[in-house]
Amino acid sequence: MPSTPDIKYLFEPRGVAVIGASHDQSKIGHKLVRNISLSGYKGRIYPINPEGGEILGHGVYKNIEEVSGIVDIACVVVPAKYVFDTIKNCANKNVHFAVIIASGFSEVGNFAEEKRIVAYAREHRMRILGPNIFGVYSSAASLNATFGPINVRSGNVAVITQSGAIGIGMMGKTVTENIGLSAIISVGNKSDIDEPDLLQYLIEQEQTKIILMYIEGVSQGERLISTLKKAVQKKPVIVIKSGRSKRGAMAAASHTSSLAGEDKVFDDVIKQCGVIRAETINDALDWCHYLSNSPIPKGENTVIITNGGGIGVLAADACEKYNVNLYDDLPNLTKTFSNVIPAFGSSKNPIDLSGQAPVSYYDSALTAALNNKSIHSVICLACETAVFNPDEFYQVIQKQAAEFKNTKPLVLSLFGGANIEHNVHELQKSDIPAFGDVYEAVSLLGAMYSYYRTRSAPIEPSLEMNIDTDKVNDIIHKVRADSRTFMLASEAQAIMQIAGITVPKSRIAHNLEEAIRYAEEIGYPVVMKIVSRDIIHKSDAGGVALDLDNKSEVMDAYEAINHNVRNYNPEARIEGFEIDEMVRFETETIVAARRDIAFGPIVMFGLGGIYVEVMRDVAFRAFPLSYQEALKMIGQIHSYPILLGVRGEKRKDIETVADSIIRIGTIVRNCPDITDIEINPLVVYAQGEGARAVDVRILLSKPQEAV
Ligand code: COA
Repeated sequence: MPSTPDIKYLFEPRGVAVIGASHDQSKIGHKLVRNISLSGYKGRIYPINPEGGEILGHGVYKNIEEVSGIVDIACVVVPAKYVFDTIKNCANKNVHFAVIIASGFSEVGNFAEEKRIVAYAREHRMRILGPNIFGVYSSAASLNATFGPINVRSGNVAVITQSGAIGIGMMGKTVTENIGLSAIISVGNKSDIDEPDLLQYLIEQEQTKIILMYIEGVSQGERLISTLKKAVQKKPVIVIKSGRSKRGAMAAASHTSSLAGEDKVFDDVIKQCGVIRAETINDALDWCHYLSNSPIPKGENTVIITNGGGIGVLAADACEKYNVNLYDDLPNLTKTFSNVIPAFGSSKNPIDLSGQAPVSYYDSALTAALNNKSIHSVICLACETAVFNPDEFYQVIQKQAAEFKNTKPLVLSLFGGANIEHNVHELQKSDIPAFGDVYEAVSLLGAMYSYYRTRSAPIEPSLEMNIDTDKVNDIIHKVRADSRTFMLASEAQAIMQIAGITVPKSRIAHNLEEAIRYAEEIGYPVVMKIVSRDIIHKSDAGGVALDLDNKSEVMDAYEAINHNVRNYNPEARIEGFEIDEMVRFETETIVAARRDIAFGPIVMFGLGGIYVEVMRDVAFRAFPLSYQEALKMIGQIHSYPILLGVRGEKRKDIETVADSIIRIGTIVRNCPDITDIEINPLVVYAQGEGARAVDVRILLSKPQEAV
């Protein structure tokens, strides 16, 4: 296949054509020419319309093939049924990127036409953005090739959005919120160009300090994961993902034909990449605004400075919710703040300047916090009181914010009447993170800490175990030869043994002597089970004996099972007596690996029983992952304290759980025929005593899906 054009020319095109440029001012094809002309774009503009003539002072070409200059971007604004022919013309002209604004493709079920267009374009070294998009804004080229608003503020936030309407809305909203954009680009149906392609450029582009993505569905998740991991090492990435709810996911499916996948999987995987997830567009925009302007904290110690106890408590609650750690070194706090607070104030964190605090107290307290190297960030709260002068406060905060800007984050929440609200607005206009609601201020600081932790965490290499896949594949071939897509318990257990995961010891005895010998080799207590293809329900037939503690109990059980089975079904063919280790049930966990529709190989962990089934207390990770990340995944579940040992119990063998997770992830990643492995339960013993994979379920892909 021919090589593809450099993505840089999508953001910095040398020439832009508009195919479907209209003389009619009300049409999108006209608005696009207008926006490109008025945005200050310095490259060449080529309106294309079979009628020719002139639009907004630009000569109109009847066909793109008539254009002589380079055309990096052709914006396509003709109805869907004409798009394929238009793409053919673009290919003849060596256009690099077709930006297909037209709707009417996979989002309405017209998959075939979309595929035909992409295949043709790729064959001719052309890439497709869209279809079903609003276009491209790129500050680097002073280009607004969208049908959104014209007055975009240039700045350092880049936005990639799957929804055109949200993107257009953001173009307007960023102006009113004082946020500057380096680029905003919609990917729509993502028929060809997707987020990782665009990130390639935005990661390296100097002007872009932060990247915001609105996502409805992920298709090539493995590529997205590796690109995002690279991106966050250079700049923060914030994501809004819709389709959290069932109804939302259904709506996304019909909007851009995206399969949302399970939201919990997305949430865990995106956080594993170091990406910050925002729930609302407002939060996301606030975070973009201030993360691109504020310093990132250099440590975990946050101090709240307030003139009201109640609001201080609310802020402390918000800190817990958003993972912001309050500094609690009382001697240091007292030393720092005792001179600046009245006797009835408090130097415990929250630092309470008291209700009678004039603005000068804030000034002194902020200076004290600024100069204390052990304090890494400050939440400043103010409720409007009679002794509180909002104008003076505004001046002090302007001065302090300038000092903090180069050292540590300062976020503010001001609560009160019109004067206070005016203050908030004015401070925001100066790019100072002031909010009316305390949760908004703390959520911003939480986002800053999330990024701080990503950047300060060591980059751990991902781990895969050395597993003999040839042996695994031998078993898979036997299952395939039997036309099955599920493995028998014995096959699944054999795979566990190949992978180095401990299963209960088990042997098949063919006579009493063997039964005794195997029981002694395995170690008492043991379980004895009849092996007969004619007896499906072994217990009903009296074919199972539990908890056999010594030789004589084994002998008795052998007799009894023989007798019971003969009575139950005299014709039954007895193939042997299974002697199993009697598993001591301690802490039951579930570990699983599967090939996810969005992200490829993923692993899951949870505690067994109601924890997973009722409370859905599970954690996911994309595979491969580092050993540390596997431990982090285990530590993420709410019921983790059970593994640490409660009520005097010993800490469980968490390391063996992490090891098992990586082993089954490795099998799913390296054996494409296997789609699912679930160990349920993986019984975990005390630290150092390992675990037992008691029940293992392994599924294969349907034959037509096999890779
Ligand atoms: N080459 C060049 N121009 C062509 C053409 C061709 N092959 N075929 C038609 N045109 C011209 C038309 O003559 C017309 O120009 P005119 O008004 O001067 O006569 C212009 O292209 C537009 O064609 P028209 O048939 O009038 O379409 P339209 O403007 O009503 O709608 C779309 C075109 C693409 C905007 C519409 O089909 C569409 O998809 N709308 C949805 C867009 C959308 O919402 N996208 C997602 C955003 S998030």
